Amino acid sequence: MPAIRPLPDQLINQIAAGEVVDRPAAALKEILENSLDAGARQIDVDLAGGGIKLIRVADDGDGIGREDLPLALARHATSKIATAGDLEAITTLGFRGEALASIAAVSRLTLTSRLRGKEHAWRVEVDGGQISATLPAALSDGTTVTVHELYFNTPARRKFLRTEATELGHCDEALRRVALARCDVAFTLKHNGRVNRHFRAQALADRAALLLGEELVAASVPIEARSGGLSLTGLAGLPQAAKPRADAQYFFVNGRFVRDRVLAHAVREAYSQLLHGERQPAYVLFLELEPRAVDVNVHPAKTEVRFRDSRAVHQFVKHALERALSPTAAEAPVAYASVSHGNAIQSSFGLAQPVAAYQAFIGSAMPAALPQAEKAPPLGYALAQLHGVYILAQNEAGLVLVDMHAAHERIVMEKLKRNLDAGAVQRQALLVPAVLSAEALDIATAEENREVLERLGLELAVSGPNELSVRAAPAALAAGDIPALTRDVLREVREFGGSEALSARQNELLATMACHAAVRANRMLSVAEMNALLREMEETERSGSCNHGRPTWYQLTLADLDKLFLRGR
Ligand SMILES: Nc1ncnc2c1ncn2[C@@H]1O[C@H](COP(=O)(O)OP(=O)(O)OP(=O)(O)O)[C@@H](O)[C@H]1O
Ligand SMILES: [Mg+2]
Repeated sequence: MPAIRPLPDQLINQIAAGEVVDRPAAALKEILENSLDAGARQIDVDLAGGGIKLIRVADDGDGIGREDLPLALARHATSKIATAGDLEAITTLGFRGEALASIAAVSRLTLTSRLRGKEHAWRVEVDGGQISATLPAALSDGTTVTVHELYFNTPARRKFLRTEATELGHCDEALRRVALARCDVAFTLKHNGRVNRHFRAQALADRAALLLGEELVAASVPIEARSGGLSLTGLAGLPQAAKPRADAQYFFVNGRFVRDRVLAHAVREAYSQLLHGERQPAYVLFLELEPRAVDVNVHPAKTEVRFRDSRAVHQFVKHALERALSPTAAEAPVAYASVSHGNAIQSSFGLAQPVAAYQAFIGSAMPAALPQAEKAPPLGYALAQLHGVYILAQNEAGLVLVDMHAAHERIVMEKLKRNLDAGAVQRQALLVPAVLSAEALDIATAEENREVLERLGLELAVSGPNELSVRAAPAALAAGDIPALTRDVLREVREFGGSEALSARQNELLATMACHAAVRANRMLSVAEMNALLREMEETERSGSCNHGRPTWYQLTLADLDKLFLRGR
């Protein structure tokens, strides 16, 4: 075995960089957090090449003095904590004193800063770990960090980077998190010289509307709860704002974006009565608590926390959300209202001749050409639609109740599956392309997964810096909300990761797509349409349950009905 020897500083920093800055977005996050820690009110980000070529962040914060400049780039040097005691009550986003050193070890970094009240700025440069002399520089205020050529000296790491567009997408997400956390600070983001984002200081609802969409904010309730040193504020999406994927979930603890199991569980419990199955809630929540009550020194990327009293935090978050989300009776969605006015039907039947009365009542509902002698199909013939949700049909055995939304979803899903098994989902060119606003990450996904998307029946083109147009859509879904469908598919493809995942998670993806096709509740169907649906159900495999496993239809036999009415036969 070779002798043990200490590693050179530069190598130590490079190793640390592997954990702290695994991609441009992580470097951007660290630099942005430094600006916020310095009290910046305006932060301007310039990126080139997805952040790989250039990340430049200019802030108007407190700045760094001449003597401190080289220290800012030294490892384990920080102005934010000094003692072990400080570590137990962290009030800043940074505290490890290693972010800039790590970034500088794997890039060419320039740090220019003007300490508030000083006549001019100073600058230091680091090239692959070598710090230059401190030189005077021009800067009106604050600090500007410029990172060129990330990972130029660590080719192994560079190889792991994805395309420029994907890295840009991740950088954009890093900015979104920071921008949501601090809507009192103004931000701009430029990529290759073009402005991608521009936020002035504003209220949370306005910032969230820009970042997550107005529909989502409109379908959410404000949260404002306080108890025993804990406070929860923000926006919680109502069930209408729920999504097929967990991609609008932002939880901040003392201003820091975190992923935490305790919090995630509390949220899930609070929503468990409201959302069924696969739907994911949308939320932007801020938990504030005494810094001593939470340990943020858990992981180098600082996205994990540990609560001193996690039970109390769990209970508090869960109850605060439950209270805010519990709808009053008046607000309960119509679709869930109980079916209580069936008397009209009852009174129009003469009990003595039920069948004749039935037929008189349904009249034209029975297809005229129906050969009465022939055996009725298994699911029978449609009689009526109940509350825009259920189809009532009569078959040999009695009454069939069909959840038309769930049934249609299953039919479409099986159709898409058959298509895909045969090669590709059948496409239909759109006469007028559907246009959707798209995040950089969406555009990247669309470009990188063109083939997969086409197999799924979606032909997309980039029609602007923040815009995609849909030229062709799956034939079975072409009548639906194409932009919404496209957005969901892009999100899933991105999360599952392209073609390998397409086969592995095909059913999930197709289920998401089918959701968009399905007849929405409350749409009136003609009797002919209802019968067509029943016939398709009979021909579709697994049509007895919807894509989420709920039943699609239910049989009430005449015997069941007789029992219901205490009618001895
Ligand atoms: N934009 C900035 N404005 C003012 N001071 C800054 C800025 N960026 C960095 N500094 C100074 O440089 C020091 C080192 O920054 P660095 O990000 O490396 O460490 P940190 O923020 O202290 O801890 P962490 O590694 O957790 O981020 C900071 O403690 C701070 O004093
Ligand atoms: Mg820092």
